[in-house]
Amino acid sequence: MPIPAPIPVPVPVHTTVGIIGAGPAGLLLARLLHDAGIDCVVLESRDRAYIEQRQRAGILEQSTVDVLRSAGAGERMDREGLPHDGIELRYDRRSHRIDFPSLTGGRRVMVYAQTEMVKDLVAQQLADGAPLFFDAEVAGIEGVHDVNDTATATGAPTIHFHHRDRGPATLTCDYIVGCDGFHGVARNAVPAGLRRTYERTYPYSWLGVLAQAPPAYDELIYAHSSRGFALASMRSPTVSRLYLQVPGGTDPAEWPDARIWDELDARLATDADPGWKLERGPVVAKSVLPMRSWVVEPMRYGRLLLAGDAAHIVPPTGAKGLNLAVADVVVLARALVQRHVTGSTELLDAYSETCLRRVWRAEHFSYAMTELLHTDPAHSAFETKLQLSQLDRIAHSRHAAAELAENYTGLPIAPPSPYAS
Ligand code: APR
Ligand code: PHB
Repeated sequence: MPIPAPIPVPVPVHTTVGIIGAGPAGLLLARLLHDAGIDCVVLESRDRAYIEQRQRAGILEQSTVDVLRSAGAGERMDREGLPHDGIELRYDRRSHRIDFPSLTGGRRVMVYAQTEMVKDLVAQQLADGAPLFFDAEVAGIEGVHDVNDTATATGAPTIHFHHRDRGPATLTCDYIVGCDGFHGVARNAVPAGLRRTYERTYPYSWLGVLAQAPPAYDELIYAHSSRGFALASMRSPTVSRLYLQVPGGTDPAEWPDARIWDELDARLATDADPGWKLERGPVVAKSVLPMRSWVVEPMRYGRLLLAGDAAHIVPPTGAKGLNLAVADVVVLARALVQRHVTGSTELLDAYSETCLRRVWRAEHFSYAMTELLHTDPAHSAFETKLQLSQLDRIAHSRHAAAELAENYTGLPIAPPSPYAS
């Protein structure tokens, strides 16, 4: 007997918080708001299969792990994720381990792919969460500009979208949150004269490889080498995630599997273990990822709030992108709950400043790790010597190593303002 088609859930015409984008930011925000009794709707332009197979990073900071657990989304992560207590730095054919717990008062990270976290959050939301619509592409938003938190002559904040099966529709909201990533549309509603962007691009990219091969080592290896940067990461005890610095604009077809493995072996080589080589296996995916640092300020305009990649991008060297998205929505959920429960907009008014303080720390860390570990074609031997000297400093100074470890395992989500009286 054929399985009856599911009855389509009607798209509401109004909600308290309209969320654009079902990446980690949008999905986690929807979960936190739903748990707090605040109604919301998530509109995602792609289909479920697409967002559940997109390859992204895979390092969760301690506070990201804690947030997922407390949101009830940590069960599979705790079963299948790999807790890590350190990373290895390789440079000048030397190896040095950074031990996180001893340098940070017990903090560690979890290796768990963003793809898996997205699957967990989607399953949870479809089972008992707020409405989530795939194939719903937002074309634009309007009516967000009432900074005084009262209705304006132009009407409520409104999202205009097009659902693949149901056609054009609108959703009015008390607040709109743009969790729609770097290519999203939400931030276009901030007038150009009030929006400021800060950007840095890098003259190299990463070739990202997924391989059915056991990880190189039981922790991640970050390698500086005269041939370029390499990173050996993992997804499970049988699947490796590997990266090689390549020139910007590289076509992955230039990198047949044997060339990838040979180059990884050469860049990761260490005199601490002269015969060491990666265990090879079938490469199941490869793609080239651009490197960019980018921030848009402010992260709030009237009834519009931006979170995650919609507001900031970091180069992946520090593994901060996903964790920043999580921190933003934790701060935002607290602010929306305060507004809902007490009517106060104090935390919403502080949202942009609170997030940006942490965002700029992560921007700095990601930039510094990138500059420390990559071979820049414009650099001379002088800059290479500076890189090696700084790596040596990290290896020999507890203070320098602790600075790296604190940033890598994650700064507190909302530290008190250093400017507070
Ligand atoms: N309408 C609806 N959905 C949209 C639109 C639109 N016009 N534009 C973009 N989207 C969706 C995208 O399809 C995507 O699923 O918004 C979502 C944004 O998700 P992410 O790009 O994953 O961004 P975010 O949730 O902020 O997560 C940040 O993702 O890019 C990585 O490195 C980054 O790990 C970090 C994390
Ligand atoms: C990953 O596993 O995809 C990964 C790990 C560490 C990084 C970047 C990406 O710094």
